[in-house]
Amino acid sequence: MARVLSGVQPSGDLHLGNYLGAFRNWVADQQEFDAFFCVVDLHALTSDYDPTLLAAKTLETAQNLLAVGLDPAACTLFVQSHVPEHPRLTWLLECTATFGELRRMTQFKDKGGEQETVRAGLLTYPVLMAADILLYDADRVPVGDDQRQHLELTRDVAARFNNRYGETFVVPESAVPKVAARVMDLQEPTRKMSKSVSSPLGTVLVLDSPEEIDRKVRKAVTDTETEVRYDPVQKPGVSNLLELLAAAGGGDPAELASHYANYGTLKADVAEALSELLRPVRERLAELQTERGYVETVLAEGAAKARTVAGPTLDRAMRAAGLLAPADGFTH
Ligand code: TRP
Repeated sequence: MARVLSGVQPSGDLHLGNYLGAFRNWVADQQEFDAFFCVVDLHALTSDYDPTLLAAKTLETAQNLLAVGLDPAACTLFVQSHVPEHPRLTWLLECTATFGELRRMTQFKDKGGEQETVRAGLLTYPVLMAADILLYDADRVPVGDDQRQHLELTRDVAARFNNRYGETFVVPESAVPKVAARVMDLQEPTRKMSKSVSSPLGTVLVLDSPEEIDRKVRKAVTDTETEVRYDPVQKPGVSNLLELLAAAGGGDPAELASHYANYGTLKADVAEALSELLRPVRERLAELQTERGYVETVLAEGAAKARTVAGPTLDRAMRAAGLLAPADGFTH
């Protein structure tokens, strides 16, 4: 069975963009593939984060993933820092990647890579990501557009390592999801929905009550026309609402447009569809929040399972790089 691996930063609050754009596909993937999903808490250390909140956000992110439908019986869910093979392989890969290729990464440059005070870990961020992937011999790696370049780097680094030291790693493919919902901000519909976009009104959180969802959808920015038509370039706001309706209830956004004579009824239906879509997730999350012990057990079992795959890969890579192996191996 092909193996799939993906990772998510421990940002806590889950919004519709993460859910429809990524996690809903993870839930589908766990049925079809040998699936590994990782909350990448070590990656969070590359920026100015709050150490008093990191642990809670990591747990919350894992709860969110379980609430949207990741099933510990069908996939391996774990926290990156619980599997020490990740930083250990990162070192070998840091000695394989080059300064030049890391410095040229768009995300590094966008996040202020030219500044003297930037953390060195921000530069090597994609190498840690490469380790996440290569430790599991992942065949497919579902990522958003913003991570494509990092995946390309992973492929280059894996191929270079194999070339230099002999076949060690599987060179992964990126996986374009079958249904890629592009969820845009409700207030700035030309930007992807994300918590960092200015107004909280623009982002629907999975935990929002039906009333909050209704309020946000009603205030969604549209345009000064009245015609409901799917046209992402001319009518980004209305098109986003149609996309959301299609993502929540099925159907095709352009076809759905023909059912609506005005923005008001479209908005009412979008709010209703989103509330219904999120209701089971909200309910499951409320339960999980009272079951901390259960979530911790899932993560402990996930890490143990992850190590049974990551350990042998790390051992293979360390031997390939020519390091003297201890009598009982590098990992045991
Ligand atoms: N860098 C990814 C992001 O910010 C998260 C990530 C870390 C990841 N390791 C990964 C994604 C491995 C896929 C595979 O979204």
